[in-house]
Order: sequence, then structure tokens, then C-alpha cells
Amino acid sequence: MAFEVPPLPYDYDALEPHIDEATMRLHHDKHHQAYVDKANAALEGTEWANDPVEQVLTILDTLPEGKQTVLRNNAGGHANHSLFWEIMSPDGGGEPEGDLADAISDTFGSLDELKKAVNDGGVNRFGSGWSWLVHDGTGLAVYSTANQDSPIMQSDEPLLGIDVWEHAYYLEYQNRRPDYLEAWWNVVNWPAVSERYANAIGKVEAGTT
Ligand SMILES: [Fe+2]
Repeated sequence: MAFEVPPLPYDYDALEPHIDEATMRLHHDKHHQAYVDKANAALEGTEWANDPVEQVLTILDTLPEGKQTVLRNNAGGHANHSLFWEIMSPDGGGEPEGDLADAISDTFGSLDELKKAVNDGGVNRFGSGWSWLVHDGTGLAVYSTANQDSPIMQSDEPLLGIDVWEHAYYLEYQNRRPDYLEAWWNVVNWPAVSERYANAIGKVEAGTT
């Protein structure tokens, strides 16, 4: 089945004042839709047309050369944005609980250190990209990627990702990317991130990654 933009799980203005309604409308309805349309066009009529987006991203290197870049950018954009809407919430912010909280303390020392590492990754990403918290098969890690490159492309499980393309913040924050990154943590959906963490651990235990 062709990819589709998932409905936003809250109202366009629900993340205000941290992320404004106009940005959310453009970002979800226009930018994400464009990634979906371009990915679908590239996959139409091929043997990969019904594959889940995660599958497409893990086999990029084996696809015809003429398809690789367009799918890296647009299937990547689809996967990244689908995750992004999910890991934000109007009831967001605060602190994670349970196993994820323990893993963050063990790996980074504290939640504040994790936030600093993710924010630094976002600020230092030159041009467009994402800053990530992932499970890399052995534990938690933080890094940034360029453009729409997804951690899935290197067999990591993305748990949390902050979009640092200008389209994600420029209307509200203009050139102040650090302020956007700082504010973003007020909308982080920790229960959703914890669920992704539990799934990642489950896959490792089942030996499927
Ligand atoms: Fe985006």
C-alpha cells in the first residue's frame, strides 16, 4: 500500500506556545505530504511498493541507483516525520519514568545531560537534519543526521528525534535554533518514547536486530 501521512494525533495549535499552529499546518500538511508523494512516485510499480517504510530504508543500498537518493530523502522524510508527530504531545514535558529513566541515568548521568547532548547535536548540525536519541542494539546513543537520513538506515532504533530543518521552527523562532531546541522539551511525549524504548529492547532480546 502506498505511504500516507498519518493524521496529527492532536490539534494543529495544541503544541502552542512552543510550536505554533502555522508551522504545524505547513509542516504536517505540506512538507510531510511532499515526502510521501515523492516516495510513492519512486516506488510505484516496483517490487518494493508494498514494503513498510522501515524496510525500504534498510535496503536502500540494494535498490536501483536511480531510486536510492530520492528514497533516502523521501522515505526517510516520511519515517522521520511519522515518528516526530508521535513523540510530541500537548501534555508533554516532564521526566521519563521506569526503564527508560534508568537507562538515561546510566548512560548520560542525568536527564539534563541527555537534553544537552541532543540540543548540542541539533545546534551543531550544519544545514538541515535531525538530532536523535537511539537504541543502537547495545544501549542508548545520541547523534545527529543530515537531511532526512534516518537511524534506521544504520540499523539503529530511533526513540526520539528533533527536526532541525528551518521549516520546523523558522516562523516562530527565525534563526534562533537553540531556543527552539530548548522549548521542544516542553512537548516531548515521554510515554511514547518509553514505548519505543521497550520495543527496541524487545527486538534485541528476540534477536531481530
Ligand atoms: Fe520537517
